[in-house]
Amino acid sequence: MRVRVAILGCGNRGADVYARLLAAGGAQVAWLVDPRPARLAEVAARHGLGPEACLTHWEEFFALGRVADAVVVATPDDEHVEPCVRALALGYDVLLEKPICLEEAELGRLLAAEAASAGRVTVCHVLRATPFFRAVAAGLRSGRLGRLVGISLAENVAWWHYAHSYVRGNWRASPPAAPFLLAKSSHDLDLLRAWAGSEPQRVSSAGDLVHFRRDEAPPGAADRCGHCPVTGCPYDARRIYPPRDPQAWPVTVLTAEGVPLADALAHGPYGRCVYAGGNNQPDHQTVTVTFANGVVGTLTVSAFTHNNTRTLKLMGTHGELRGHLERGELDWHDFASGTVLREVVDTTGTHGGGDAGLVSAWLAFLRREADVPTPLAESLDSHRIAFAAERARQRGTVEAL
Ligand SMILES: NC(=O)c1ccc[n+]([C@@H]2O[C@H](COP(=O)([O-])OP(=O)(O)OC[C@H]3O[C@@H](n4cnc5c(N)ncnc54)[C@H](O)[C@@H]3O)[C@@H](O)[C@H]2O)c1
Repeated sequence: MRVRVAILGCGNRGADVYARLLAAGGAQVAWLVDPRPARLAEVAARHGLGPEACLTHWEEFFALGRVADAVVVATPDDEHVEPCVRALALGYDVLLEKPICLEEAELGRLLAAEAASAGRVTVCHVLRATPFFRAVAAGLRSGRLGRLVGISLAENVAWWHYAHSYVRGNWRASPPAAPFLLAKSSHDLDLLRAWAGSEPQRVSSAGDLVHFRRDEAPPGAADRCGHCPVTGCPYDARRIYPPRDPQAWPVTVLTAEGVPLADALAHGPYGRCVYAGGNNQPDHQTVTVTFANGVVGTLTVSAFTHNNTRTLKLMGTHGELRGHLERGELDWHDFASGTVLREVVDTTGTHGGGDAGLVSAWLAFLRREADVPTPLAESLDSHRIAFAAERARQRGTVEAL
């Protein structure tokens, strides 16, 4: 029998990523929930669903009782915990978008809800499911680096991606959105934790919003790009969106519900000047985590990079690994032999193949052919580190966990 899935939140992740991949993997997208009627109709048509399968709030969906096998929670950041708890109360298995929650206390509430339920939570830490990061984990397990001592991981956000999501987009202000580190990098903190193989003990962090502020605006800049006289601004929305694929993210974010791109740029948030204000997320941040086994990991997340990828350096007593996600390259340096072995890994697909990898692993779990791919309990430390790092960044402290 086909697994019946309800999609709560039919935005980019819920509809364009998970619903598509789930349908392609043989699941039945049975219910769609979203407050935007035009978007609901658009997504319903993709899956051959009628209006009776479309609801406007997750409260309405849960009021129906148990009418599917599993739910995807892909609502905005501040609406993850409540629908997840409600789904667990009905025994649903849940695919839960990150961030898991916005308050540290909610982690315990979710764990308790899961413990009391027949359902299990799979957290969308999709990077774990990429062939690239699976190869890193396998290499570490093989012992080829000796004892792991240090990790240096960089999340290169890309200047235009940061401007899209964290200046103009949904994550421009925290609250209501998650703090930058939690919103952008819970994946990376999850990887640090997994590679260290030990509990985080101390966290420090530095970073700020240095550029996307009114006092950084070029002289004469207008509040909207459409009538701005400044030339050569890389953040000019007219240079960012129209040249890109109209059928792909991020342009689809502007044109959802059939809005013409020109109208979105003229009137919507994505045509606003990046220096016009309203945003408060740091545009660069570095976190240092000391783990109980002595491994020290750093993560640097920055808007000011030319491309959008992860780069890493894992330093062991007998070898070093340097990696570049976009190129799929892993260079394994062996100190004793002086050799470098280059491993090239397939990185096609969104999130380097992680979205497809996670959905396929979740479907295998729903069919009871495999375990939960990214369990809730294992994913919590990434969030604990992120909460501590935000306190450390704001207060200038070293936080003990
Ligand atoms: N795992 C990852 O790598 C990854 C990547 C990007 C985003 N995310 C996370 O996924 C989540 C969704 O992000 P997105 O990019 O799809 O955002 P989005 O804004 O495109 O989609 C969110 C959708 O939820 C809908 N919604 C709002 N309130 C609702 C309610 N009460 N009931 C049902 N639907 C409701 C909105 O109308 C919207 O369509 C966010 O929490 C985001 O942080 C995760």
